[in-house]
Amino acid sequence: MKNRVDEPEIVVGLDIGTTKICAVVGEVDSEGVTILGVGNVPCRGLRKGVVSNIEWTVRSISDAIESAQTMAGVEIRTVYASVGGSHIRSIPSDGVAAVGGGEVSRVDVERVLEGARAIPVDADRQILHALPREFMVDNQDGIRDPVGMSGVRLGVRVNLITAATSCVQNVIRCAERCNLTVADVVLGSLASAEAAVSEDEKEIGVAVIDMGGGTTDLLLFVDGGIAHTSVIPAGGMNVTADIAAGLRTPMGEAERLKRNFGCALGRMVAEDDEIEVPGVGGHMPRKVARRVLSDIIEPRVEEIFAVVRKRIEDSGLLEQLSAGVVLTGGGVLLEGMTEFAEEILGMPVRLATPVGVRGISQLVAGPQFAAGVGLVQFGAKALFAARSDEASAPEPARVQRIQRPLATASVEETLEVVQAKKNGRFWNWLRAAF
Ligand SMILES: Nc1ncnc2c1ncn2[C@@H]1O[C@H](COP(=O)(O)OP(=O)(O)OP(=O)(O)O)[C@@H](O)[C@H]1O
Ligand SMILES: [Mg+2]
Repeated sequence: MKNRVDEPEIVVGLDIGTTKICAVVGEVDSEGVTILGVGNVPCRGLRKGVVSNIEWTVRSISDAIESAQTMAGVEIRTVYASVGGSHIRSIPSDGVAAVGGGEVSRVDVERVLEGARAIPVDADRQILHALPREFMVDNQDGIRDPVGMSGVRLGVRVNLITAATSCVQNVIRCAERCNLTVADVVLGSLASAEAAVSEDEKEIGVAVIDMGGGTTDLLLFVDGGIAHTSVIPAGGMNVTADIAAGLRTPMGEAERLKRNFGCALGRMVAEDDEIEVPGVGGHMPRKVARRVLSDIIEPRVEEIFAVVRKRIEDSGLLEQLSAGVVLTGGGVLLEGMTEFAEEILGMPVRLATPVGVRGISQLVAGPQFAAGVGLVQFGAKALFAARSDEASAPEPARVQRIQRPLATASVEETLEVVQAKKNGRFWNWLRAAF
């Protein structure tokens, strides 16, 4: 299907990270996304991916939006905002719907996804995404895109991504305090994957590791769909804190030393390389072997990748990740990161930068911009979908013919489905229902 966007539209991604706020302005037309402007400012209002100080976050969002507006020459009113943090969970679910007219339409797909969302979640949590793993049309499974297929019954297996409602609301509140409307809230690592991972890689199985300042997020794609997500509450800031403590230097200096001289693998550093370390509390600067810096960095990076490895093994999907690992997020910019990750994870690893955008794309080159660009691409997809819906507006009768979608099922019916799933009798229940 050709993407239909007759009039170019502005789509803005707002990546709200633990260390920085990044606003990316894109112009979306039928050819894709053109980057018009970027605003990237440091932010101290979050802890481990979660807003902890509204005032500081609002100030940084406002600054990032203002510089992106100035560069792009457009007024920003609506954004796609990222959310992250350890409160993110992933749970499997299924949905089913009758197909109207004998051919699966986009409306049928939306209905079946609504059905998959209709499971009880804790009162203080909300569903962010229903990410399809596979569709089933009648007795055929393993379908990626069922639109246009013939059949009478459409099923779907999804991973539901849920988040703490208060954390999502705080993101929205911060944006609204800057007079912005949030079009959608998107899992940050999902946005990074959107910008940095190809459809082919997703198809043959790939692990995406987004190492930010506060968290390291893991996403596993198998057969084109998301099969696993998890969040490790450690990232680049932990490395910086280790350097500050180990070399007894202020955090700002530790960050500078890390960026300029840091290396994740000690053996890649020449024995006689030296760096100058500024002292704290009036102490004189001193010369230190660069190897000492990497000896501080290495164990922390090793620890993070070891946890990632354990999570991949526990998911049972290790053997299905034929495309290996893609690294995103600013934390992976350390020298030696790719080599070290390959060693610990035992898979081919590549460093990702956003792809598939035009315009001043050099301004968003680098793994730390993947989430911001991915948010724009996510918004562009939503725009394409909305336009193609307008172009093929469903006949009301066709919508009405759908029987017993789970989204509108009674509480008793929903509980029955949940119980049936627990007992492994879901497919029996489906056969009986239709
Ligand atoms: N050149 C560099 N070398 C090493 N580390 C770097 C470099 N540039 C940035 N970083 C590190 O990347 C981290 C920030 O990455 P990123 O911008 O992806 O995080 P974030 O989105 O703000 O945080 P999170 O995603 O965890 O909420 C910081 O810890 C920073 O020290
Ligand atoms: Mg991030």
